[in-house]
Amino acid sequence: MNDTFLKACRGEEVPYTPVWIMRQAGRYLKQYQKIRKKVDFLTLCKTPELAAEVTIQPVDALGVDAAILFSDILIPVEAMGMNVKFLEKKGPVLSPTARDEASIERLSIPRPETDISFVMETIKILRKELSTRVPLIGFSGAPFTTATYMIEGGSSKNFLQTKKMIFQKRDLFALLMDKVSTTVTEYLKAQIRAGAQAVQLFDTWAGIFSPVDYRDYIFPYVSRVIDELRNWQKSENMEQVPVIYFVGESAGLIEEIRKCNADVIGIDWRINIEDAIRRLGDGFSVQGNFDPCALFLPKEDIQIRIENIIDNASSARGHIFNLGHGVLPETPVESVVSMVDMVHRYGMKKQKKC
Ligand code: CP3
Repeated sequence: MNDTFLKACRGEEVPYTPVWIMRQAGRYLKQYQKIRKKVDFLTLCKTPELAAEVTIQPVDALGVDAAILFSDILIPVEAMGMNVKFLEKKGPVLSPTARDEASIERLSIPRPETDISFVMETIKILRKELSTRVPLIGFSGAPFTTATYMIEGGSSKNFLQTKKMIFQKRDLFALLMDKVSTTVTEYLKAQIRAGAQAVQLFDTWAGIFSPVDYRDYIFPYVSRVIDELRNWQKSENMEQVPVIYFVGESAGLIEEIRKCNADVIGIDWRINIEDAIRRLGDGFSVQGNFDPCALFLPKEDIQIRIENIIDNASSARGHIFNLGHGVLPETPVESVVSMVDMVHRYGMKKQKKC
């Protein structure tokens, strides 16, 4: 198996810079659209053979160094007892919103092996099909990013309901975050037991906070999830599966994020990767941080930006090339294919020079 990605996560020597792409399975791929014409998104997530098939599509089409489980961060939320729908133009809609004590008390903590068994089944199929190829990344929303969908009832612009709850009903927010954190921990443990070889926590929206609010209300929960995963694997004498913590708009939060025990920190393009590495210190590998919109540039400019990122990341103990957020549905596939190729070629040259 190509283990370049896992080595870079652990800060071990690698023959070239590994790359995968957030949302690498999805609508910009014709092969994906063909399957989506036949089934809706949730059915796709819940049909292990199909979910496995779309997980592998980008591995075949792009030549990336890791596969990421095809699923969604809202899958465990449905298992907690909320109604989750994905509407064609609107995105996710969740009901009833988790804003009062009764609706939060009503939420259950799922037993993932039985309540979300289709995900574990998908992982098992994938491990077989990928065995000689690339590692499989499992994932979950981080507690906050998961909780904000539950509070807002869907996507949000200014996260008013979430912030109001933190500032006005602190105990209620703590109750919700406690339940979500336990759910996320148990869900990731189950994914690791089923065969996930790395896990990523998506904290896409944590960047909406001031550093102090992030430190007080958001960080303790994600840190708890990471520590529980670590301690559990230690107590079971398991090999530690790398944990990647991705935070959107993290530039103002690096000094808080560096207190977590993840192996890899994922960052977006709003910060120079060299600056992030310096502020994170020696304890982490970094993942990122190409602007998804820069894939609409001419090839020569894409090449220059790739070289800059790889050069600027050379001070990190490990670097996994990625976008700073998910690939956009309108992106030309050829640009993504050549980006992966450019990273591999330039990343190999760099390693040889060292
Ligand atoms: O990365 C991958 O290829 C794995 C699959 C994956 C999906 N969603 C598939 C998906 C992953 C890792 C996610 C994570 C996710 N889901 C996040 C965190 C990362 C991020 O991108 O911010 C969030 C916030 C969600 C919630 C979500 N799911 C939204 C807001 C939407 C609607 C917007 C959109 O892109 O359509 C989704 C739907 C979704 N999740 C799709 C896919 C492929 C599109 C569904 C379709 O086929 O119509």
